[in-house]
Amino acid sequence: MKHPNRSDSRAVARGLAAAALVAAIASPATVRAQAAAHDAHALPAGPIGDRHEIMEDMGRSAKAIGAALKAGKPAEAAAPAADIAAKVDDFLKLFPDGSVGHGSRAKAAIWSERAKFDSIGADLKVKATAVADAAKSGGDVKAASNAMFGDCKSCHDQFREPEPGQ
Ligand code: HEC
Repeated sequence: MKHPNRSDSRAVARGLAAAALVAAIASPATVRAQAAAHDAHALPAGPIGDRHEIMEDMGRSAKAIGAALKAGKPAEAAAPAADIAAKVDDFLKLFPDGSVGHGSRAKAAIWSERAKFDSIGADLKVKATAVADAAKSGGDVKAASNAMFGDCKSCHDQFREPEPGQ
């Protein structure tokens, strides 16, 4: 499939070899998810639509971190990483019982394995803060972001349904 974001994503993938990052940012599925962002307006108001918006924001922040690394300006990863860290708690609050269906890709496992879901979220906050700290202090932003993207992938692998049609 052709999409304007595709070549951008490929470039990110080239710049950052880590498999987790590639899976999180540059996979065709993610590009399609971003291309389908306008579908969010079709989601019901309330927790499903709200968490979708936050995830879309995190997707944009993730791309900004990849772009900063690719441009050789790791310090510019600080703001998007801090933004991810700041949004995690709100995101985790948006999974009330029964908030499935209506185009949501949330798996039932979120409610049967809630502690595991929440702990990956808590770890994302720690790892995103570490990315921001590394970016501000001249640390290893690439290593820190690879660790952070591991949490995105881990949670999606366990708790997010594949896109319809895959
Ligand atoms: C604690 C679990 C968890 C973590 C951590 C997580 N996500 Fe998600 N993400 C989800 C779930 C669940 C959905 C699907 C939500 C729905 O459809 O109701 C999702 C959906 C998405 C979507 C598609 C938009 C949507 O709502 O369908 C994008 C883009 C996304 N996540 C990016 C990221 C990025 C980037 C990170 C890491 C910086 C991340 N996510 C971390 C659970 C998580």
